[in-house]
Amino acid sequence: MKLLVVGGGGREHAIIKKLKENPSVETIYALPGNGGIAADAVCVPIGATDIPRIVEFAVQNGIDYAVVAPDDPLVLGAVDALTEKGIPCFGPSANAAIIEGSKVFSKNLMKKYGIPTARYEVFEELDAALKYLETAPIPTVIKADGLALGKGVIIAQTREEANRAVTDMMANGMFGASGSRVVIEEFLTGPEVSVLAFTDGKVVKPMVSSMDHKRIGDNDTGLNTGGMGTVAPNPYYTPEVARECMEKIFLPTIAAMNAEGRTFRGCLYFGLMLTPNGPKVIEYNCRFGDPETQVVLPLLESDLLTIMQATTNGTLSETEVKFDHRHACCVILASQGYPVSYKKGFPITMTPEAAAHTFVAGAKLGENGELLTSGGRVTGTTAVADTLEEAIREAYRLSDGVRFEGAYRRSDIGRRAMQALK
Ligand code: AMP
Ligand code: GLY
Repeated sequence: MKLLVVGGGGREHAIIKKLKENPSVETIYALPGNGGIAADAVCVPIGATDIPRIVEFAVQNGIDYAVVAPDDPLVLGAVDALTEKGIPCFGPSANAAIIEGSKVFSKNLMKKYGIPTARYEVFEELDAALKYLETAPIPTVIKADGLALGKGVIIAQTREEANRAVTDMMANGMFGASGSRVVIEEFLTGPEVSVLAFTDGKVVKPMVSSMDHKRIGDNDTGLNTGGMGTVAPNPYYTPEVARECMEKIFLPTIAAMNAEGRTFRGCLYFGLMLTPNGPKVIEYNCRFGDPETQVVLPLLESDLLTIMQATTNGTLSETEVKFDHRHACCVILASQGYPVSYKKGFPITMTPEAAAHTFVAGAKLGENGELLTSGGRVTGTTAVADTLEEAIREAYRLSDGVRFEGAYRRSDIGRRAMQALK
């Protein structure tokens, strides 16, 4: 089979490595892929949102199955465009990807169908938002409606900060059109859990839970990033919590999307907060998480391609989705200065042992085929072990084998999970 994977980050590298385990896979094309993915797939310089060229490439190269991994092509309708040309695809159509594409849509969906989430108000006028903030409980959470590269969420600790955030989004165009509508919501507390789930719109099969580490600094300090590391499973996600989430969140969400005529097929990402009043949805994503995928897929025992095809064909109920019961930890190496500003173009070296466990995100190939840094998050190194403690130790040891100038990593990935286990 010839496969095509749209995207070019660490998540896509993890998906590609897993897809390659299926012996019927002959070739995988990555559009655009990256310098590290080039070791595992044929990278083609077509941008992940260039849908006309993606479709043209797929048709001309006789692609048997396509995987659209990132949010923006999904929201823009890449799956619809490929399906129209007869190319079966993993991922939701645009009318279902809106569950991530519009926070106003997802909040209204949860309210309409009684799915637990933070209380909220939607504003389209700056004056009304500012008036509401005069008496809103502080801290408060301000979210731009549309996609904003994961940066459209501000937790305001003071009223001034809240006013500034809505003004930046609604009047100063900080997130472009994404910020013309904002959601202002209740600040929730509790441990966060990421649950990725396969669904064909009929059944939902959750993957092993995980925990992201979003802030740049140790002990969850400093700016938000795309994610500095992950562990799986998430110790806060007990079998009891899992049952409650299935009953009150996962199944109702699938049913709600069906009732709206927006059947969701693919990977639905539930960003959950385990509050004192039970689990609540913080966000939905219409895709695999990054870097959650880098710990979840290494624990998947069943064949990924078979499961993906089952979500497309509507046969997920009869398809096995089985996970290894061990633990995984992924440590991200980032460029010095990320997430603000950083230099690119530094050579990356890896020991063969480290390379075998590393998913490459922000890297390109130089003129002589050498791997060079080209982004903020550069690599993610994952270890799997019998205990969480061992997985963490091993992930750090392996990540010592990945080197480039100014490489930065958090030193406490998995520490909170370890404390939770004790
Ligand atoms: P998001 O971009 O939606 O993933 O939000 C980024 C982060 O903001 C989440 O991972 C949470 O840590 C935090 N967050 C979002 N919504 C809330 C909320 N209502 N209460 C507390 N924290 C929140
Ligand atoms: N790790 C969070 C995300 O993929 O959005």
